[in-house]
Amino acid sequence: MTRLLGKTALITGGARGIGRAFAQAYLQNGARVAIADIDRDLCQATATALGDQVLAVHMDVSDPASITQAVDQTIAAFGQIDILINNAAVFSAAPIVEISPEDYARVFDINVKGTLFTLQAVARHMIDAGIKGKIINMASQAGRRGEPLVAVYCASKAAVISLTQSAGLNLIRHGINVNAIAPGVVDGAHWDGVDAFFAKYENKPAGQKKAEVGAAVPYGRMATPTDLTGMALFLATSDADYIVAQTYNVDGGNWMS
Ligand SMILES: NC(=O)c1ccc[n+]([C@@H]2O[C@H](COP(=O)([O-])OP(=O)(O)OC[C@H]3O[C@@H](n4cnc5c(N)ncnc54)[C@H](O)[C@@H]3O)[C@@H](O)[C@H]2O)c1
Repeated sequence: MTRLLGKTALITGGARGIGRAFAQAYLQNGARVAIADIDRDLCQATATALGDQVLAVHMDVSDPASITQAVDQTIAAFGQIDILINNAAVFSAAPIVEISPEDYARVFDINVKGTLFTLQAVARHMIDAGIKGKIINMASQAGRRGEPLVAVYCASKAAVISLTQSAGLNLIRHGINVNAIAPGVVDGAHWDGVDAFFAKYENKPAGQKKAEVGAAVPYGRMATPTDLTGMALFLATSDADYIVAQTYNVDGGNWMS
């Protein structure tokens, strides 16, 4: 498979979960990939496991200096960046009356500010180098509508959908496509954390929330990260050249829009 032969990708939050699966799919299709993550050790271990076309980059997407450093390091290693996946994010949940300013700032700094300014840094590089690149933001079904215990994360993902629209409309004049993927419920460490929040706030035994959301998906189960790789690949290729500022649901039928 050579759909991305000669392309280079930067994937934030690529040390595990969905980002790691995207890195693997891109590598299998001939790309070189930088996985950038705040978890330095896991990032290095994942890069080693994925092979010699992978660069491990330490990055905190909430820190503008770290964004600059990660983008520069990727360009120094690979010459250019053709594809960015803004994948790093954190989850939080709490009833409205318990949300703290600190948690709000943490989630928005990573999920929204991190997405915008990583996108900006890579877009500047693409424009300067004349690269008709692809930028893919990770939204969520949580960005499609609010949830009683998940106000801050839902709002952050709604902001990602909105940023995708504005950036997509602004950057297409440079031949840069910005689109987003909105997954539903994807099994892995992220959802283990979500399950723990619901165990606390809804008084459920560990694992019950996961079982409930999986059973409620029209497809019949939670997603695995590899269920999302087809869309991530498609949006990175020239087959998606005419697709601008869209957010695609890849959620087993959970949401229709
Ligand atoms: N898992 C799901 O059910 C689900 C559903 C909808 C959307 N999403 C979105 O998909 C993306 C990937 O989800 P996942 O399940 O793989 O999550 P995950 O928690 O397994 O992985 C996220 C990665 O981001 C990294 N990270 C966290 N903060 C960072 C920072 N400040 N700078 C750099 N890296 C940082 C983590 O170390 C981790 O490796 C996220 O944007 C998430 O919101 C996930």
